Amino acid sequence: MPGPPVARRTGPCYRRSPAVSGSTILLAVNEVLPGSVLDEQLELICAHLAESGHEVVRAGTDEDALALVQTRAELTAALVSWDMCDADGVLERPAEVVLRAVQARFANLPVFLVSTAASVDDLPLWVSEVVCGYVWLLEDTASFIAGRIGVAARRYQDELLPPFFRELRRFDDTHEYSWHTPAHAGGVAFLKSSVGRVLFDYYGERLFRTDLSISVGELGSLFEHTGPIGDAERNAARIFGADLTYFVLHGDSTSDRIAIHASVATDELVLVDRNCHKAIYHGLTLTGGRPAYLVPTRNGYGLMGPIPPHALTRDAITELLQRNPLSVDAADPAPVYAVVTNSTYDGLCYDAVRLAELLGASVPRIHLDEAWFAYARFHPLYARRYGMAVDAESVPDELRPTVLTTQSTHKLLAALSQSAMVHVKNSPRSPVDHRQFNETFMMHATTSPLYPMIAGLDVAAAMMDGPGGTWLADEAITEAIRFRQAVARISRRIESAGDRPGWFFGTWQPEQVTDPGTGQSYAFADAPLDLLRTEPACWSLEPGAEWHGFAGLESGYCLLDPIKVSITCPGTNAVGVQSDTGIPAKILTAYLETRRIVVEKTDAYTCLVLFSMGITKGKWGTLIDGLLDFKSLYDSGAALGEVLPALAREFPARYAGLTLRDLCDQMHRQLRDSELMPLLEDAFTHPPRPEFTPAQTYQRLLRAGTEPVRLAELANRTVATQVVTTPPGIPVLMPGENPGEKDAPILRYLRALEDFDRNFPGFPSETHGVTRDSMATTGSRAYDERRTEDPLTRGAHSDPLPAAARPARMRLPTPGPADAVGRAQTLLGLVATGPSAGRSG
Ligand SMILES: Cc1ncc(COP(=O)(O)O)c(C=O)c1O
Repeated sequence: MPGPPVARRTGPCYRRSPAVSGSTILLAVNEVLPGSVLDEQLELICAHLAESGHEVVRAGTDEDALALVQTRAELTAALVSWDMCDADGVLERPAEVVLRAVQARFANLPVFLVSTAASVDDLPLWVSEVVCGYVWLLEDTASFIAGRIGVAARRYQDELLPPFFRELRRFDDTHEYSWHTPAHAGGVAFLKSSVGRVLFDYYGERLFRTDLSISVGELGSLFEHTGPIGDAERNAARIFGADLTYFVLHGDSTSDRIAIHASVATDELVLVDRNCHKAIYHGLTLTGGRPAYLVPTRNGYGLMGPIPPHALTRDAITELLQRNPLSVDAADPAPVYAVVTNSTYDGLCYDAVRLAELLGASVPRIHLDEAWFAYARFHPLYARRYGMAVDAESVPDELRPTVLTTQSTHKLLAALSQSAMVHVKNSPRSPVDHRQFNETFMMHATTSPLYPMIAGLDVAAAMMDGPGGTWLADEAITEAIRFRQAVARISRRIESAGDRPGWFFGTWQPEQVTDPGTGQSYAFADAPLDLLRTEPACWSLEPGAEWHGFAGLESGYCLLDPIKVSITCPGTNAVGVQSDTGIPAKILTAYLETRRIVVEKTDAYTCLVLFSMGITKGKWGTLIDGLLDFKSLYDSGAALGEVLPALAREFPARYAGLTLRDLCDQMHRQLRDSELMPLLEDAFTHPPRPEFTPAQTYQRLLRAGTEPVRLAELANRTVATQVVTTPPGIPVLMPGENPGEKDAPILRYLRALEDFDRNFPGFPSETHGVTRDSMATTGSRAYDERRTEDPLTRGAHSDPLPAAARPARMRLPTPGPADAVGRAQTLLGLVATGPSAGRSG
């Protein structure tokens, strides 16, 4: 007679008491007949575990067990039956799949194997290595079995915590009365005020209890790198593969400044990626270093590519330095340092070993700004692509430069904003001396560090340790690839439906990929996920391939990181062929914002989205939905007032009566006819002439007088502040540079941007280093004019000089009357052109 149907039990069946925080134990054992001896024994084990504070989740099939392993990061132990059933009846030994999944997700999770008939000797060797103990369910008492599992779970939990976080929790638990800063004293001060109480309740007591003073000796010192803080830094160094790691609490901007400040002396020459963050420039300002810029390539989309290898050879660098006006009277004719952004904002990452070989021939120390790339070490797809991969095995000592990497831990790993790290891999050539480096580190550090940030850095590193880190990176990569393939497949679905105009969005990647193992080629949309997530060759920018459009590359030199996804819009392609119709990406971005989807960066015909560790299928599904809806609005001739209602309301005279398609056509025409993309190319490949070093320029900004000036008057003047335009988000003018004659590429490019702004109110080009004057316009709403902040007015508040000793304050020119649409005149802070640079002044 068949028995009663077997109850399927999955999910939590026993709740924990709060004694053990977040401990969940997986019981992956076949469904058993309710009321049977085995069932009663399992129930008793669960009850004992729950009593001692653990939550127990039960899985009756391998599928359920796998789902729990993937989604329950809080597992602290598992009991897995070797005889587990396969839900689909396909697998011979489903328990092996479950154990493999545990192994790939958790380091050292205690796993107990439930054995019935099988003898331990018959198990595969790797299984014996994974499991920490065996359980014969009916041979021991339930309390004994539960006790063994519970103890192992607690030990695992104890060992899981990294050094600083563990001590911070212990310290918090001691509940001492403190007499030190901060004055809120564990949050108590907030409780004495109604508004303070709201803040306290909002963040919760724990944040304030762990916001401690530097005088708490038990937790160590961030300056002396001692105690639990020092242990945490050393643990991070191990995880990131560094010789030395420093925790920085003021962003990667500060890490960049520290690295340069600790490495470059006054008037020394530095090779600087033109595609650098402004903090690099600030570092040079502090040190008095003299930049010689390495110019990256660009493609037809206007995306900034890598610096080509031929520009990094020793000969090319010698020639660059000979041409560089700032080399005259430098402290040494040889450069001391090179700094390169890796990966670029658009996800192009170098073969760091090759980069080190090339640059190592000219400089003894290189700095890779990996603000957006802290996860690279944790996935095999990025082997050799990150700075700490440059070791004695990959480059011989006599050629290998010392490598520093600076990382915004908070950007793409899980940490609080501003949390960053500097990693060092020493070589016998120019090794970092900790004591000297630490002097610089302390100069840039606060004496009141926020301890929860340190705990965040400690945990961010621990999360990436062992298989957990690879699993996390792999998940982001996998979701990004799924998104890319889904976008590519929409095209086919629309084509086969045959009832609407063709698909026009895409994502930027190769159209074809080849499996190097089998030689088989696939259209990207059809390529196996496993191939794309594990095979770097699928993402490599091979020389001459049209899909990327960058010239001068070597095979394997540069890789497109799958997690940084550029959505491409029609209008141009990677080799710069412009089409008759187009959809400028600014319009797509504005539309997505109305759907509460905010992209990372928008260029002329591309926008960038990042697949970080926080990605979910729901998130990218919503983005695809947004793209599809934009297309139907475009195809159906929807009115602009319907698509971008706020824009149409704000600028009724400018956009009245237009459809979405009209706006796309107008904007595309303006971009094409003003030749914005070729001008951009021209502007970047012909950097302006430097006349002062960053430090000299800064001194003039402070004391020698600068004046704001309109773009129209900028020819042959020397700029005092950095000018960064988006696209592409990197500096077009560095302080101390002279853009040249009126028709110089950079000035034509800036004027084209200004025209664009004038013609498309509501879509201002993002330009840093310039500001705008507000002006009333006739017949239209007020429109902004741009001008710099007046640095002299700004600086006057803290100017220590007596008034008489200060340079005369310059007045801003009074803006003239505006026309019906409004006008944008760019005003830039200038240093008066003085004698050419030679010495630091
Ligand atoms: C290349 C690069 N370096 C450094 C930084 C500065 O990072 P943070 O915001 O952590 O100061 C950024 C920020 O966007 C960046 O893109």
